[in-house]
Amino acid sequence: MMAGKANPSAFDSLAVQYDVSFTYSALGQMLRQRIWRVLADYFHTGHNVLELACGTGEDAVWLAQRGVSVTATDGSAAMVKATTMKAQQASVAHLITSTQLSLQDLEQLPNAPHHYDGAFSNFGGLNVLGDRRPLAATLAQLVRPGGTLILVPMGPICPVEIIWYSLHGKGHTAIRRFRQPATASIGGNLIPIWYPSASRLRQEFAPWFKSIKVESLGLWLPPSSLSHWVERWPALFTALNWLDGKTARIMGGLGDHYMIVFQRKPSS
Ligand SMILES: C[S@@+](CC[C@H](N)C(=O)[O-])C[C@H]1O[C@@H](n2cnc3c(N)ncnc32)[C@H](O)[C@@H]1O
Repeated sequence: MMAGKANPSAFDSLAVQYDVSFTYSALGQMLRQRIWRVLADYFHTGHNVLELACGTGEDAVWLAQRGVSVTATDGSAAMVKATTMKAQQASVAHLITSTQLSLQDLEQLPNAPHHYDGAFSNFGGLNVLGDRRPLAATLAQLVRPGGTLILVPMGPICPVEIIWYSLHGKGHTAIRRFRQPATASIGGNLIPIWYPSASRLRQEFAPWFKSIKVESLGLWLPPSSLSHWVERWPALFTALNWLDGKTARIMGGLGDHYMIVFQRKPSS
């Protein structure tokens, strides 16, 4: 099967089981707690924040519970529906506007220029784009000078994945992230996926955004395809998660994911 064009509706079929398979898994919770600590540093009560590829709305609800207004966008109608329902169940629907909108169409947002105090995208939403520069240019129009942009893409070098799949004779899987693009099977469709390095992102966003920090996420933990390890050996992976946090700053863009924090430059 050939890889098709990126089409967010391919993700519709994942929406129902996404929380069970990832969000509420031990690994998903460990990683998300780490992101939440960073979101809490930059996004505060009264802020307006734009979320890209929001999935089932786990982060949008968490921010809204802290008084942040969130415009939660995703290309998949089913993901947006899940976000709307989660916001209602958590009684924060008044703080969350969930909208079906692709990363490629963000200029359609009706708000005034520089309306947002910040924007973020968690857990690989960005990896469906081969060239992130048009997105960076659009975000520059949407985020106010001094505002924060937090991105959490899947990185190009995940040592645990490379070692594990090499040892199991699956060389193709071990080096899949080096292909540009690689392919992922999503709901029975093969879609193209790119794994940009932190330095590539820095370069692409540089005309409008200054890079503040890069932290690895999941360097000493299994990638999400092997997340069942964490349920099997919880004490070991609790310790490795601690190590993961301690080494995050020096390991930069390595790991299953990494986090990069930008600040919108004053003018340009
Ligand atoms: C791995 S999930 C991450 C979801 C969420 N950010 C989280 O933290 O759990 C990737 C998300 O990207 C969305 N997506 C895929 N392609 C997209 C596109 N072109 N535009 C907007 N969203 C897209 C999918 O629908 C899915 O919700």
